[in-house]
Amino acid sequence: MLLFREKVAPGWLPRVLSNLPAVLVDHAHLERKAATTALNLEKYRDLYPRVEELNAIAIEELQHFQLVLDLLKRRGIPFGQPHPSPWISGLMKSVRNGQRHQVIDHLICCSLIEGRSCEKFQILARELKAIDAELAKFYASLVESEGNHYAAYILMARAIDNAETDRRLDFYLDFDAKLIRERNPLPMLH
Ligand SMILES: [Fe+2]
Ligand SMILES: [Fe+2]
Repeated sequence: MLLFREKVAPGWLPRVLSNLPAVLVDHAHLERKAATTALNLEKYRDLYPRVEELNAIAIEELQHFQLVLDLLKRRGIPFGQPHPSPWISGLMKSVRNGQRHQVIDHLICCSLIEGRSCEKFQILARELKAIDAELAKFYASLVESEGNHYAAYILMARAIDNAETDRRLDFYLDFDAKLIRERNPLPMLH
Protein backbone atom coordinates (compact mmCIF):
# COMPACT_ATOMS: atom_id res chain seq x y z
CA MET A 1 0.00 0.00 0.00
CA LEU A 2 1.37 3.40 -0.99
CA LEU A 3 1.53 6.01 1.74
CA PHE A 4 1.74 9.24 -0.27
CA ARG A 5 0.27 12.42 1.21
CA GLU A 6 -0.21 14.29 -2.06
CA LYS A 7 -1.77 13.22 -5.35
CA VAL A 8 0.12 13.40 -8.64
CA ALA A 9 -0.28 16.97 -9.99
CA PRO A 10 -3.28 17.34 -12.35
CA GLY A 11 -1.08 18.71 -15.16
CA TRP A 12 1.17 15.65 -15.20
CA LEU A 13 -1.09 13.25 -17.13
CA PRO A 14 -1.97 15.53 -20.09
CA ARG A 15 1.69 16.55 -20.37
CA VAL A 16 2.75 12.90 -20.50
CA LEU A 17 0.01 11.80 -22.90
CA SER A 18 0.84 14.52 -25.39
CA ASN A 19 4.58 13.73 -25.33
CA LEU A 20 4.74 9.93 -25.25
CA PRO A 21 7.97 9.49 -27.29
CA ALA A 22 9.91 11.83 -24.95
CA VAL A 23 8.36 10.15 -21.91
CA LEU A 24 9.44 6.73 -23.16
CA VAL A 25 13.04 7.94 -23.50
CA ASP A 26 12.82 9.36 -19.97
CA HIS A 27 11.37 6.05 -18.79
CA ALA A 28 14.29 4.13 -20.33
CA HIS A 29 16.72 6.29 -18.32
CA LEU A 30 14.62 5.85 -15.19
CA GLU A 31 14.95 2.05 -15.43
CA ARG A 32 18.68 2.35 -16.18
CA LYS A 33 19.11 4.52 -13.08
CA ALA A 34 17.00 2.15 -10.99
CA ALA A 35 19.38 -0.69 -11.93
CA THR A 36 22.51 1.29 -11.03
CA THR A 37 20.88 2.54 -7.81
CA ALA A 38 20.22 -1.01 -6.63
CA LEU A 39 23.92 -1.78 -7.21
CA ASN A 40 25.01 1.48 -5.51
CA LEU A 41 23.11 0.51 -2.35
CA GLU A 42 25.47 -2.47 -2.04
CA LYS A 43 28.21 -0.08 -0.87
CA TYR A 44 26.57 0.24 2.56
CA ARG A 45 27.85 -2.07 5.27
CA ASP A 46 24.30 -2.44 6.65
CA LEU A 47 23.21 -3.83 3.28
CA TYR A 48 26.00 -6.38 2.77
CA PRO A 49 23.63 -9.17 3.88
CA ARG A 50 21.09 -8.00 1.25
CA VAL A 51 23.50 -8.07 -1.67
CA GLU A 52 21.71 -10.90 -3.50
CA GLU A 53 18.32 -9.26 -3.04
CA LEU A 54 19.75 -6.02 -4.42
CA ASN A 55 21.32 -7.87 -7.36
CA ALA A 56 17.92 -9.37 -8.13
CA ILE A 57 16.35 -5.89 -8.16
CA ALA A 58 19.18 -4.58 -10.38
CA ILE A 59 18.64 -7.47 -12.84
CA GLU A 60 14.89 -6.82 -12.91
CA GLU A 61 15.44 -3.09 -13.54
CA LEU A 62 17.91 -3.89 -16.30
CA GLN A 63 15.27 -6.12 -17.89
CA HIS A 64 12.78 -3.23 -17.64
CA PHE A 65 15.37 -0.97 -19.27
CA GLN A 66 15.76 -3.46 -22.14
CA LEU A 67 11.96 -3.73 -22.53
CA VAL A 68 11.69 0.05 -22.88
CA LEU A 69 14.59 0.07 -25.36
CA ASP A 70 12.79 -2.63 -27.41
CA LEU A 71 9.67 -0.47 -27.37
CA LEU A 72 11.65 2.57 -28.52
CA LYS A 73 13.15 0.54 -31.37
CA ARG A 74 9.75 -0.82 -32.49
CA ARG A 75 8.39 2.72 -32.57
CA GLY A 76 11.41 4.25 -34.28
CA ILE A 77 12.12 6.55 -31.33
CA PRO A 78 15.85 7.27 -30.90
CA PHE A 79 17.34 6.76 -27.43
CA GLY A 80 18.33 10.26 -26.34
CA GLN A 81 19.70 12.34 -23.51
CA PRO A 82 18.23 12.14 -20.01
CA HIS A 83 16.73 15.20 -18.30
CA PRO A 84 17.40 15.50 -14.58
CA SER A 85 14.23 15.25 -12.49
CA PRO A 86 13.86 18.11 -9.97
CA TRP A 87 11.75 15.81 -7.77
CA ILE A 88 14.38 13.04 -7.68
CA SER A 89 17.32 15.41 -7.20
CA GLY A 90 15.35 17.23 -4.48
CA LEU A 91 14.87 13.98 -2.62
CA MET A 92 18.47 12.84 -3.08
CA LYS A 93 19.90 16.19 -1.91
CA SER A 94 18.22 15.66 1.44
CA VAL A 95 20.04 12.38 2.15
CA ARG A 96 22.07 12.94 5.32
CA ASN A 97 25.71 11.99 5.75
CA GLY A 98 26.94 9.35 8.14
CA GLN A 99 26.74 5.62 7.53
CA ARG A 100 23.51 4.79 9.40
CA HIS A 101 21.63 8.00 8.56
CA GLN A 102 22.70 7.83 4.95
CA VAL A 103 21.61 4.27 4.28
CA ILE A 104 18.19 4.82 5.87
CA ASP A 105 17.58 8.05 3.92
CA HIS A 106 18.88 6.55 0.68
CA LEU A 107 16.60 3.50 1.03
CA ILE A 108 13.56 5.69 1.79
CA CYS A 109 14.25 7.90 -1.25
CA CYS A 110 14.59 4.80 -3.46
CA SER A 111 11.39 3.46 -2.01
CA LEU A 112 9.49 6.67 -2.74
CA ILE A 113 10.80 6.74 -6.32
CA GLU A 114 9.67 3.13 -6.82
CA GLY A 115 6.33 3.92 -5.18
CA ARG A 116 5.67 6.97 -7.34
CA SER A 117 6.61 4.91 -10.43
CA CYS A 118 4.18 2.22 -9.35
CA GLU A 119 1.43 4.82 -8.85
CA LYS A 120 2.09 6.57 -12.17
CA PHE A 121 2.35 3.30 -14.14
CA GLN A 122 -1.07 2.39 -12.74
CA ILE A 123 -2.48 5.71 -13.94
CA LEU A 124 -0.88 5.24 -17.37
CA ALA A 125 -2.14 1.65 -17.68
CA ARG A 126 -5.68 2.96 -17.10
CA GLU A 127 -5.52 6.15 -19.15
CA LEU A 128 -3.68 4.69 -22.16
CA LYS A 129 -6.15 1.84 -22.71
CA ALA A 130 -8.23 3.79 -25.24
CA ILE A 131 -5.27 5.64 -26.76
CA ASP A 132 -2.44 3.12 -27.02
CA ALA A 133 -3.35 -0.42 -26.00
CA GLU A 134 0.20 -1.79 -26.33
CA LEU A 135 1.61 0.86 -24.04
CA ALA A 136 -1.27 0.46 -21.57
CA LYS A 137 -0.47 -3.26 -21.31
CA PHE A 138 3.21 -2.56 -20.94
CA TYR A 139 2.65 -0.16 -18.01
CA ALA A 140 0.22 -2.57 -16.38
CA SER A 141 2.90 -5.29 -16.57
CA LEU A 142 5.39 -3.16 -14.59
CA VAL A 143 3.10 -2.10 -11.72
CA GLU A 144 3.61 -5.16 -9.51
CA SER A 145 7.38 -5.18 -9.86
CA GLU A 146 7.78 -1.49 -8.94
CA GLY A 147 5.37 -1.96 -6.03
CA ASN A 148 7.55 -4.84 -4.80
CA HIS A 149 10.67 -2.67 -5.03
CA TYR A 150 8.92 0.06 -3.04
CA ALA A 151 8.13 -2.46 -0.29
CA ALA A 152 11.56 -4.14 -0.43
CA TYR A 153 13.43 -0.87 0.15
CA ILE A 154 11.19 0.18 3.06
CA LEU A 155 11.60 -3.25 4.65
CA MET A 156 15.39 -3.06 4.27
CA ALA A 157 15.37 0.33 6.04
CA ARG A 158 13.10 -1.02 8.79
CA ALA A 159 15.38 -4.02 9.33
CA ILE A 160 18.29 -1.63 9.96
CA ASP A 161 16.43 0.76 12.31
CA ASN A 162 12.66 0.69 12.55
CA ALA A 163 12.20 3.80 14.72
CA GLU A 164 14.55 5.92 12.61
CA THR A 165 12.79 4.71 9.45
CA ASP A 166 9.44 5.84 10.87
CA ARG A 167 10.87 9.24 11.78
CA ARG A 168 12.46 9.80 8.40
CA LEU A 169 9.50 8.40 6.48
CA ASP A 170 7.33 11.02 8.17
CA PHE A 171 9.78 13.71 7.05
CA TYR A 172 10.08 12.34 3.51
CA LEU A 173 6.34 11.94 2.94
CA ASP A 174 5.88 15.63 3.76
CA PHE A 175 8.88 16.53 1.64
CA ASP A 176 7.60 14.46 -1.30
CA ALA A 177 4.21 16.20 -1.01
CA LYS A 178 5.94 19.59 -1.10
CA LEU A 179 8.21 18.71 -4.03
CA ILE A 180 5.48 17.11 -6.13
CA ARG A 181 3.47 20.35 -6.02
CA GLU A 182 6.35 22.16 -7.75
CA ARG A 183 5.54 21.97 -11.42
CA ASN A 184 8.00 20.30 -13.80
CA PRO A 185 7.19 21.57 -17.32
CA LEU A 186 9.17 18.78 -19.02
CA PRO A 187 7.45 15.63 -20.29
CA MET A 188 8.87 13.22 -17.72
CA LEU A 189 7.63 10.48 -15.46
CA HIS A 190 8.95 12.25 -12.35
FE1 LIG B 1 11.65 -0.89 -13.08
FE1 LIG C 1 11.75 -0.67 -9.70
